[in-house]
Amino acid sequence: MAEVLADAPVVLVTGAASGIGAACVKLFAERGWRTAGLDLRASATDVSVQVDVTDATAVAAAVARVASELGRIDHVVTAAGYYEEGIDVVDITRDQWDRMMSVIVGGTVNVVQAVLPGMLARDSGGIVAISSELALAGSATDLHYVAAKGAVLGFMKSLGAEVGRTGVRVNVVAPGPTDTPLLAATSIWREPEYLAMLPLGRLVQPDEIAGAVYYLATEGSQYCGEVISPNAGAVI
Ligand SMILES: NC(=O)c1ccc[n+]([C@@H]2O[C@H](COP(=O)([O-])OP(=O)(O)OC[C@H]3O[C@@H](n4cnc5c(N)ncnc54)[C@H](O)[C@@H]3O)[C@@H](O)[C@H]2O)c1
Repeated sequence: MAEVLADAPVVLVTGAASGIGAACVKLFAERGWRTAGLDLRASATDVSVQVDVTDATAVAAAVARVASELGRIDHVVTAAGYYEEGIDVVDITRDQWDRMMSVIVGGTVNVVQAVLPGMLARDSGGIVAISSELALAGSATDLHYVAAKGAVLGFMKSLGAEVGRTGVRVNVVAPGPTDTPLLAATSIWREPEYLAMLPLGRLVQPDEIAGAVYYLATEGSQYCGEVISPNAGAVI
């Protein structure tokens, strides 16, 4: 574990309490970063704020608190989300559509709008949004999730175009099926028959997703509006 300095860079992670978000927190902390987490639940971060990312006012207040307590926000990872599978498109209820759009798209937009002014003012910063490989490949019986993740792709690519000439870099990581609590024990993505079809023959691990996020946040200075998809070969 690297020594964490008082003026070390700060990463803010949404969905920091579990899975991919928690793995990002762990990796950035190991590399000497200070960490802040926004999640419905408490996270193992230097500053943990319990907030629903659909609430723009609460997100803005949480971001202001993190910036105040840690002095700055250098990088943001938007990993808050959830998944619903096995629902034919005609059976997806209006509430299911609205909640999915609100959390996945709205949550991403709320966080970006809250952190971007500070980054632009400093002419420095980075944002990695977590989309999904399903938004690249398409998928049956989870169309509200896939549509929301596709909207995140469009939003972040366009954001890359909008801020590309500034010191702020924005990109996307689109994971394939990853071994986190988001995938139920009965999920089709855990079935041996599905995994056997994958070139790597296995789920991706959350620390492998975190590695892609960390690369984009640090060394990947050539990327703007890029989508990196660690997916065990599900999409080649
Ligand atoms: N696990 C996978 O197979 C997979 C694949 C592709 C993309 N993703 C995406 O990765 C991201 C992280 O997923 P994960 O697999 O780590 O899941 P996870 O369930 O382990 O973690 C998700 C976290 O998001 C938080 N969260 C959910 N809704 C929230 C809200 N409204 N406000 C604040 N926090 C909220 C949860 O409390 C939880 O801590 C999600 O956006 C998910 O869609 C996951």
